[in-house]
Amino acid sequence: MQLLNTVPDLRAVIKEWRLAGESIAFVPTMGNLHAGHIDLVNKAKASADRVVVSIFVNPTQFGVGEDFSTYPRTEQADQEKLITASVDALFLPAVSDVYSSDAATVITVSGISERYCGAFRSGHFSGVATVVCKLFNIVQPDKALFGLKDFQQLTVIKTMVRDLNIPVEIIPVATVREESGLALSSRNGYLTALEKQVAPEIYRALCVIKEAVLAGGQSFEELEKQGLMTLEQFGFKPDYLCICRAHDLNLASDEDAELVILVAAKLGKTRLIDNIYFSRGN
Ligand code: PAF
Repeated sequence: MQLLNTVPDLRAVIKEWRLAGESIAFVPTMGNLHAGHIDLVNKAKASADRVVVSIFVNPTQFGVGEDFSTYPRTEQADQEKLITASVDALFLPAVSDVYSSDAATVITVSGISERYCGAFRSGHFSGVATVVCKLFNIVQPDKALFGLKDFQQLTVIKTMVRDLNIPVEIIPVATVREESGLALSSRNGYLTALEKQVAPEIYRALCVIKEAVLAGGQSFEELEKQGLMTLEQFGFKPDYLCICRAHDLNLASDEDAELVILVAAKLGKTRLIDNIYFSRGN
């Protein structure tokens, strides 16, 4: 695996691959890699000749009082995992390699970025869209892979790619879960042993609501309220739990067939997000 820290160094390697007619799949990450990231890498390997992974804890997507300074940085262990997974190149830039001190351009995907997580994390999706757009311009991949766990992030990125005609195919990849149902996340490491036992209730609540939607007979609003109450009973402090239509994340109505239930809730100091995507086939 080639380790590249600067944009010119990465571009030189990519130029060689392009001259050889090779295709490139890209997996952007913030490091602290877990089995979900390695699944993205394996799917990337199956879809292109070369795989580039980036590790960059992007300051612009963290709000004031969020965990930018404490976000787990495990570069040595991450590199070993990526070598084992036969990644071709790791892009590991410093903040100054990505952002010039007088940077004046930001990407804002309006509407979708202000709802759900966006309503609780002001500027978050603008930070995500800006860094992902920059990384796409740096790597110029044919394909980029993102986990479905960050469903709203994926929708923001797909919208940006469509609106800005960015020539990259976005490949969504299913959420990897522990046996308990808890979605893998770098932030799970913040959970205490006791919280770790409770955390899977967030996915259980989603599964219960999904079954109730499929059974029919209760309004979406009622089901959302019940879901929020269940989470509170387990000690979560929910930010939101919404039954949405999958393609644009507007609140779902009875006519919508493709649905996603989005949830974000705090458990102690840890903010967990999850979702469940399903079709009613009507
Ligand atoms: O999902 C993440 O890890 C980050 O939001 C991403 C897409 C790498 C952008 O910093």
